Amino acid sequence: MTIRPFTRRSLLGAGGVAGTAALLAACGGSGGTSGGGSGTTMRLALNQTEDHPSFVALENFGEALDEATDGAWSIDVYPNETLGAQQETLQMVSNGSVEMSIVSGTQLENLNEDFLVLNMPGGFDDIEGQIRVLGDESIVGDLFASLEESQNIAVIGGFTQGERSVYTTQGPILTPDDLSGQSLRVQESDLHLAMAAALGATGTPLSYGEVYTGLNSGVIDAAENNEISYYTQAHHEVAPTLSLTRHLVGTDYLIINTDTLNSMDDDQRAAFDEGWAAAVEEHTSLWEEQTAEALENAEAEGAEINEVDADAFQEALSVLPEEFLTSESQTALWDAVRGAQS
Ligand code: GCU
Repeated sequence: MTIRPFTRRSLLGAGGVAGTAALLAACGGSGGTSGGGSGTTMRLALNQTEDHPSFVALENFGEALDEATDGAWSIDVYPNETLGAQQETLQMVSNGSVEMSIVSGTQLENLNEDFLVLNMPGGFDDIEGQIRVLGDESIVGDLFASLEESQNIAVIGGFTQGERSVYTTQGPILTPDDLSGQSLRVQESDLHLAMAAALGATGTPLSYGEVYTGLNSGVIDAAENNEISYYTQAHHEVAPTLSLTRHLVGTDYLIINTDTLNSMDDDQRAAFDEGWAAAVEEHTSLWEEQTAEALENAEAEGAEINEVDADAFQEALSVLPEEFLTSESQTALWDAVRGAQS
């Protein structure tokens, strides 16, 4: 598959909050019965483009679910933050105005601090280990169920965000010292603010959709993300120096409103779980292909890509576990995650 970078026009065209309300109304309001059939169409909020592995795998998940349930359940994926940034869509899933969303682990960390264990640099060695841990009920089962009563949110499972690296408007980041004094965009998370500080930068939390403008206007000097986001969000246009720091293997989660999930009968729920498992598999294999392609495309369009001494970055970040893993449940989860990869 050929991936194209995001055009800023599509985000501007989304029309912000007013646009979201109009869009939801056009889809039949909450409850999600839309389309021609008598089934339920669940809206799924995503902040990625239509070329991103998450969109492709989730669309296929929706089709498989529709087929397996004879049209009783289907999924409409809304890409490009059209239903809002993740902080908002998290809230929408909780109150039931949107049924599902993909959110980064950093968002869930703000609801249950145990999630930060999986947002910790050095937690996952690689994507393979990550997918194994995320699929292991004995490690993540309680964590994923932890928001069901308090927030009405069920965490179904995780997609990889791949390896995150730093990119800048100027100059490569070959060692953590090169980040000194730079304003580095981070996701909305205390851990990731501390991650920026440990690398010598000043962390600036912004939502994903604000990063392009932030880099372009000079509000931030740097951001960190995986190669696919770097290219599909067109960040390479405004921050053309990518340094492969590979400082974090990040995780995205599929979340669903608990009432919606509980209204599936047993067969439908089994079809849902099967469809999701297939989506994770498809996503993981697309990830590898599209990572290589994104790097090639970004380079062909003028980005400069630098290999760096990734160990120097891990070393600088090795202070974080002691500072952040403070409760028994966090340290037990950390030990289980690390133990599963040794
Ligand atoms: C990745 C991740 C998104 C997240 C984004 C970010 O692209 O897949 O879920 O929102 O990083 O940095 O905000």
